[in-house]
Amino acid sequence: MNIFSRKTIVLGICAGVIATASWADSHSAEKLNPAVAARHAQMQMIGYNIGILGAVAKGEMEYDAAMVASAAANLQALAKLDGATLWVAGTEQGATAGSRAKPEIWSDSAGFAAKFDDLAMASAALIGAADAAAVGAGMGDLGGTCKACHESYRGPKN
Ligand code: HEC
Repeated sequence: MNIFSRKTIVLGICAGVIATASWADSHSAEKLNPAVAARHAQMQMIGYNIGILGAVAKGEMEYDAAMVASAAANLQALAKLDGATLWVAGTEQGATAGSRAKPEIWSDSAGFAAKFDDLAMASAALIGAADAAAVGAGMGDLGGTCKACHESYRGPKN
């Protein structure tokens, strides 16, 4: 696959991920608290990179070892961001526009951090995935880490 067609596919996936991330919901005219906006950007980057792995697993995107390794490494790095500037106390759902962060993020910060560790580990496991089947085999674990954290630490739609 040449560089141009690969870029086209990635842009297509990006558009899909943004659409499913309720872009309109979270990016209304209202100006968000910068920490809330920044952590939403972290989550969107996470969504973009897992979108690449998901497309490879489903055969919608041709397996490319370097692209798979980059997506997995980006996920790992995004999971390891220092959250001190992002998950700022006082920005829970209800206190700040656009936030769906549950108060448990602060009352159980160790549990929340452990969920990011789970994401980092499941991402790292995919860095060397040798073909589309190997990517697919790791997707359950990876997607499970999103779901587990969202169930415990993300509130209902605003
Ligand atoms: C450690 C916890 C945690 C993990 C792991 C996690 N998320 Fe999230 N995610 C959250 C929280 C909390 C919010 C709500 C943040 C807010 O509104 O302030 C969120 C919000 C989002 C959003 C909405 C962003 C927006 O613009 O409003 C998307 C998309 C998302 N997550 C995707 C993912 C995907 C995909 C994964 C797994 C690959 C994942 N998340 C893993 C905690 C997590």
